[in-house]
Amino acid sequence: MSSRKADLILGVQWGDEGKGRVVDAYAADYDVVARFGGGDNAGHTIVVGSRKLALRIVPSGVLREGCRLFIGGGTVVSLGGLTAELDMLAGIGVDVSRIKISDRAHLVLPYHPALDRLAERARGGDPLGTTGRGIGPAYADKAARLGITFGDLREPEQLTEKIRAAFRWHALRFDQSEAAAETLAIAEVKAHAQRILPHVVDGVEFIHGALESAQRVLIEGAQGTLLDVGYGTYPFVTSSHTIAGGACIGLGLGPTQIGRVIGVAKAYATRVGSGPFPSELHDETGERLRERGAEFGTVTGRPRRCGWFDAVGARYATRVDGLTSAVVTKLDVLSGLERVGLVSAYRLDGRPATFSDAAHPRLETVVEWFEGWSDDVSGVRRIGDLPAAAQRYLAAIEAALAVPLEAVSLGPERASLARA
Ligand code: IMP
Repeated sequence: MSSRKADLILGVQWGDEGKGRVVDAYAADYDVVARFGGGDNAGHTIVVGSRKLALRIVPSGVLREGCRLFIGGGTVVSLGGLTAELDMLAGIGVDVSRIKISDRAHLVLPYHPALDRLAERARGGDPLGTTGRGIGPAYADKAARLGITFGDLREPEQLTEKIRAAFRWHALRFDQSEAAAETLAIAEVKAHAQRILPHVVDGVEFIHGALESAQRVLIEGAQGTLLDVGYGTYPFVTSSHTIAGGACIGLGLGPTQIGRVIGVAKAYATRVGSGPFPSELHDETGERLRERGAEFGTVTGRPRRCGWFDAVGARYATRVDGLTSAVVTKLDVLSGLERVGLVSAYRLDGRPATFSDAAHPRLETVVEWFEGWSDDVSGVRRIGDLPAAAQRYLAAIEAALAVPLEAVSLGPERASLARA
């Protein structure tokens, strides 16, 4: 059967690349925007005029009235969190009947954040710095075949039994203070099931039905390539597959059904939580990037670690994601720096090293320097109209990613985008 291909936008660093604003801008040309993984550990911010929207799980196309929004089967979602987000959106006049969730998506239940805390405590002095939302434990339950799906909400009797079975396993790790977790989980499901059920659909029918009826589907990644559970800086990663292949798994698509793969890269690098970050800046420049870029977590409020753009990580992402083009975000944050650095290579004991060496204690970075620019670039709408020094820096990012740069975002506003 002939069917359209879906396009994919995903982050190529450690998350927080500004995918939300890029997806919002691109969604004008699509009929469906679909999330494929992660949960409410993600925070996507969209600014339209005076309205600033912080989304956790609903795809970033939500402010485009013509778009249907789909939360795919590869996600893990808290019922209370989803209900709150639907209420918030309904409260600002969004028609939330456009939002659907796959029957294959898994529930994050109240005992999952509790398990996240226990796992962090068990790691002692070397915590992962998770968002504490129970994402890892929910994915672990899925793989252990103890998870509860959104499809399960249709059978309340069996659902209670399934939660009891999962809890019998988890209870072995809980102390008295968490003994009520099973009751809480059952209560949460009872409280929200009727509200959420009208949004639950057969996820495979939904996505393939859309593509087969020639609808334009845009897939939105969550977190970033370098946080992938298999190919990121393990174990300092999230628990889902954030790379392009994760879109196939998370939506039930084959690789031949993906069209463009657009990588979103911030003009510098940030990371929240623990883990290797070879281009990190521990000085005033890092501080300045944090302040000017408002680099504080959308979900947790934690200050993000900041550093130079890492071309080694970028090349790695192009490979594992199979990018076809790229968008650079937050270039405006670099305006006013006398010179801008870019980590062009890694070295280990005098020899060239690869991204898989990122955590090595003796790793050294090679920094290439670029002349800065001080012009206000926020009104620029064509990449060719940017200051010459900014264009030289962008050319180095484009060379690292080895795919054409199709847009550069120059501010949080929907319109602040320069196209090629
Ligand atoms: P978890 O996803 O809550 O298990 O956290 C695992 C790691 O991924 C931690 O370092 C988090 O800070 C990081 N992380 C999870 N979601 C995001 C995100 O949306 N942006 C940036 N980092 C994230």
